[in-house]
Amino acid sequence: MKKAIKMIDLTAEYQQLKPQLGQVIKKVWSNGHYINGPEVTLFENKLAEYLSVKNVIGCGNGTDALQIALMAIGLKPGDEVIIPAFAYVSVIEVVCLLGGIPVLVDIEDQYFQIDSSKIEEAITPLTKAIIPVHLFGQSGDLQKIIAIANKHQIFVIEDNAQALGAKLIIDGKEKMLGTLGHIGCTSFFPTKNLGGFGDGGALFTNDDELAHQIRRISNHGQQNKYEHDIIGINSRLDSLQAAILNFKLQYLDQNLSLKRSIAAKYIQELSSCKKIRIPSKNPDGIHTWHQFTIKVKMGKRNELKDFLKNRGIETMIYYPKSLHQQKAYTNFRVFSPISDRICDSVLSLPIHSLLKLEEVSFISHTIKDFFNAKH
Ligand SMILES: Cc1ncc(COP(=O)(O)O)c(C=O)c1O
Repeated sequence: MKKAIKMIDLTAEYQQLKPQLGQVIKKVWSNGHYINGPEVTLFENKLAEYLSVKNVIGCGNGTDALQIALMAIGLKPGDEVIIPAFAYVSVIEVVCLLGGIPVLVDIEDQYFQIDSSKIEEAITPLTKAIIPVHLFGQSGDLQKIIAIANKHQIFVIEDNAQALGAKLIIDGKEKMLGTLGHIGCTSFFPTKNLGGFGDGGALFTNDDELAHQIRRISNHGQQNKYEHDIIGINSRLDSLQAAILNFKLQYLDQNLSLKRSIAAKYIQELSSCKKIRIPSKNPDGIHTWHQFTIKVKMGKRNELKDFLKNRGIETMIYYPKSLHQQKAYTNFRVFSPISDRICDSVLSLPIHSLLKLEEVSFISHTIKDFFNAKH
């Protein structure tokens, strides 16, 4: 039987890195600083250099990063935060945990991003921040969002969990996503662009005061040991994760460029298939293709998913429901026809740096076979 094709192959990736990773891990074990050790500072500095941002602060995971960001800007119960209706759950979860009110805005139909033309009508005197989620590895019209936020004096927190390494081209210059708003947040969940061997996250900011606040909040509100000036949480990056991430960071751009070739191959193979819509790339940006998400027409998504599964091809549905369709968040129901409709048609195909172009061809041909055979 043919080898199954996974969405992402973490075991194969580990095998590739294994010879050098052993040394990296042993070094942490032998110096005994398991939390906030020298590896964390080293990694924060290296990532800051990669992103050309003044401050990077590691934390426990990407969800905590968003929560810490909202705490750092001083979100109070009753404050409103504008978020997309179609996104990963963390963004609504953290707003609610802090007593804020999530104001959901529909996405546009092209890039899966919050519809910037609908943001201004959602702003009220209570709006404290906008969180654009750079879904699937790129942003939408972030510059417009930042201009709106500046006009209304509200914060922009970029959820960059899926788009580390992605860029936006502004006045001909490439700028890293996650560094353009007041705070950027990311996740090092193992399947992310830069994935650890466990949970991890980070915040980025060019604002030193916010950086100071973020550092204190993520470490129990303390600046000096056992002096808790503000209420914080315990969310720190483990030294072991930092050492692994630091080692993997050197391969990030190479991996992203491999993913770009895979996406280009999918686009070449699937453009002729009129029964699906292939994802669009924002021409003003550099995509990281965290996901390659197609839209399947005529209600055939689940059938196609099963068809691919029976032929050894794993796929995922990111996401089966928009945020207000989730039971926990039905209170925040809004009119978001695109988000609600898209959940029934999206299907994410395997994409990772070790996926072979022949496998991409096989997946694409299998998709075309499905539509050619009576479906
Ligand atoms: C867009 C987005 N935001 C936030 C998160 C949360 O990150 P974590 O799983 O590290 O908490 C994720 C992770 O899946 C994500 O995809």
